[in-house]
Amino acid sequence: MNSWPIQLNLYYYDFLGDSILRKSVIAGNWKMHMTCAEAKSYLQEFIPLIKNIKDDRKVVIAPPFTAISTFSNHSDFDYLDISSQNIHWEDEGAFTAEISPKMLLEHGVSYAIVGHSEPRKYFSESDEQINKRAVFAQSSGLTPIVCVGETLEQRERGEADRVITRQVEQGLENTNPSNLIVAYEPIWAIGTGRTCEAKDANKICSLIRKLIGFDDVIIQYGGSVKPNNIDEIMSMSDIDGVLVGGASLDPNSFARIANYQ
Ligand code: 13P
Repeated sequence: MNSWPIQLNLYYYDFLGDSILRKSVIAGNWKMHMTCAEAKSYLQEFIPLIKNIKDDRKVVIAPPFTAISTFSNHSDFDYLDISSQNIHWEDEGAFTAEISPKMLLEHGVSYAIVGHSEPRKYFSESDEQINKRAVFAQSSGLTPIVCVGETLEQRERGEADRVITRQVEQGLENTNPSNLIVAYEPIWAIGTGRTCEAKDANKICSLIRKLIGFDDVIIQYGGSVKPNNIDEIMSMSDIDGVLVGGASLDPNSFARIANYQ
C-alpha cells in the first residue's frame, strides 16, 4: 500500500501505513575537544558526507559551549542538530559555570545531554539534579538526552539492572517520554575500546523501555561505538541510535557511523 509519511521531530507518522516509526538519533559527544577553528574545518569535511543521509535518522553533535555558534552560523546548519553537554534548571541566576536553556535556544540548540557518567563521577552529579535538568530542559522546549549506566564492579556483582532501574526511576521522574532520549552508556565501555555485546546492550535498552512504559521512547547505546561495530549495534530491536565519544571527533569515522547500514 502507498503510504504518506509525515516527518515530525523524533518520529515518522505514517498515516496510511497506520504506524508511528521512531527515527534513530546518531549523536556525537565532543566532550572537552575542539576549538571554533577546529569545529569549522570539521564541518567543512563532515557535512558533504552526510548530505544524502537517509530520512529515518537524525544527526546531532554536542560541541563544547564555545563552538556552538560555529554550528549555528554554518551555512549548511540544516543537516545537523546541535546538543549542549549540560543544562541548568533555572533560566538565570548565581550559578557559576552553568548554562541555561534560553542561552542555548538563542543559538539553535535543540538537545541537552544530562547525567553523563563523567559529571556523575567527577562532580558528584546526583539523580535528583539530573532529574531537575531533564524536566527543565523539556519545559523549555529542548529534548534531554539522559545518560544512565553501571560501573564494571556493579555489572560483575550482577547489579546492572538494579542500578539502571534506580537511575531511570529517579532521573526521569515527571519527564515526558515523547520528548526524551535515554542513552544507555555502560561506564566500563566508555573510552576503553571495550564495547558491550550488542545483545547485552539491547537487553538493558529493553528494560529501560519497559520501565518508562512508552514504546516509542528513543533509546541510544553509547560506549566505544566505532565504524566497525555500528551496523551490528543498530540492528538491535531496542536500540534507536548511538551516543558517540571518541569516534565522533573524526569526520570520516562519524560520517560512516551516521550512514550505518
Ligand atoms: P566513547 O565513544 O569514546 O567510548 O565515549 C562514549 C561517550 O561517553 C559518549 O557520551
